[in-house]
Amino acid sequence: MMSGARRAQGAGRARRAGRAGRRAAVNTERRATPRPERGGQTPPSARKEPPRARPLLQRRRVRPRGRRPRERPRELLTPGGAAARTARPGANFPAASALGAGGAPELAAATAAAGPVHRQLPLPGASAFGRECPEPQLQAVAAASGHTVMLVDQTDEILAKSKKGIEESLRKVAKKKFAENPKAGDEFVQKTLSSITTTTDAASVVHSTDLVVEAIVENLKVKNELFQRLDKFAAEHTIFASNTSSLQITSIANATTRQDRFAGLHFFNPVPVMKLVEVIKTPMTSQKTFESLVDFTKALGKHPVSCKDTPGFIVNRLLVPYLMEAIRLYERGDASKEDIDTAMKLGAGYPMGPFELLDYVGLDTTKFIIDGWHEMDSKNPLFQPSQSLNQLVAEKKFGKKTGEGYYKHK
Ligand SMILES: NC(=O)c1ccc[n+]([C@@H]2O[C@H](COP(=O)([O-])OP(=O)(O)OC[C@H]3O[C@@H](n4cnc5c(N)ncnc54)[C@H](O)[C@@H]3O)[C@@H](O)[C@H]2O)c1
Repeated sequence: MMSGARRAQGAGRARRAGRAGRRAAVNTERRATPRPERGGQTPPSARKEPPRARPLLQRRRVRPRGRRPRERPRELLTPGGAAARTARPGANFPAASALGAGGAPELAAATAAAGPVHRQLPLPGASAFGRECPEPQLQAVAAASGHTVMLVDQTDEILAKSKKGIEESLRKVAKKKFAENPKAGDEFVQKTLSSITTTTDAASVVHSTDLVVEAIVENLKVKNELFQRLDKFAAEHTIFASNTSSLQITSIANATTRQDRFAGLHFFNPVPVMKLVEVIKTPMTSQKTFESLVDFTKALGKHPVSCKDTPGFIVNRLLVPYLMEAIRLYERGDASKEDIDTAMKLGAGYPMGPFELLDYVGLDTTKFIIDGWHEMDSKNPLFQPSQSLNQLVAEKKFGKKTGEGYYKHK
């Protein structure tokens, strides 16, 4: 046992050691520079983290004495806001597992809702997650204060439709969440909506954004053109992320000069309901960028998982071959699509059958994915194209978004 004096001496030493340790930790952090991944080529821009880069969502900001905090909007840019799927009537967030997020309007709503609004009220994106784990999520979302979202698409008409879709979605959420207090529900909708603005010119607003989440058409050339342009106008610290379901993140990142600040951020449809976000790290993505995005998804009330830049990441790599197998079963005449859907719902416990899911996701998007994988590995039996899928897409029957796919929709 230690005597009183020796205990006091020991405690003093421990305090001094603690202070020194903390100083050392701070200094190490200051010195730390991102390390290239093994086997990955490090572009010049990845060798040194830009001096202004910082976590997107800092839980606590320590302000140096005598300096005023910089007034800066924490903006999020979401090109592809049009993704008319959320704007379409009837898309009321069914609790279904689905192929992916798409729908930038839903993404916009969820992120805007995770902004200042959450200080006062529950949110669509956070609420589903919050039921399981209220405290940490509430703190995380509260830390994400000050988000503003800029929704970008090609025409004002698409943007107006998207914003209307967001409002309808939010009203449905508010009706449920604030059944006892409609006034608070209205306030929630208005506050969230006021955090979302729209534009058709991403380049003119990207200079003031911290994060760009792209959810435009699943086409590498179009995505590359957009990012190449935005790269010229974006601030040095701005992180770029793609919501692509199937394209290689590295090949999108290579269109820019900020490969270290580029990653995949794959949301799932419907975004306010689905908890998962796949965060994709390429060999060039810096650890700091990766961690910022993980923090960001947590602040939205989502559950991030990490995956390498491999085709389909985790979910779609398993899900798309399953959907294609269901199509092949139907094409061979082994079972009707209705019976296949029923079988997977009642027999496997899936919330949607594969054909319902295909129509929900969009047949055009699924065809983009499978065609891309077939091109990459034409011998793989899981990646073979489908005659019925090709036919429906050629007829512009894309599923729910066009009113017809494998099924007819009202
Ligand atoms: N559909 C899904 O369930 C799903 C799920 C997860 C991820 N994703 C991914 O999200 C992205 C969008 O998917 P989608 O199904 O919503 O596609 P979509 O083709 O239905 O919608 C794309 C939207 O992007 C807009 N757009 C096209 N080029 C643009 C540009 N240069 N600038 C701004 N806007 C532009 C279009 O006007 C359209 O509104 C794809 O990368 C897809 O892989 C989709």
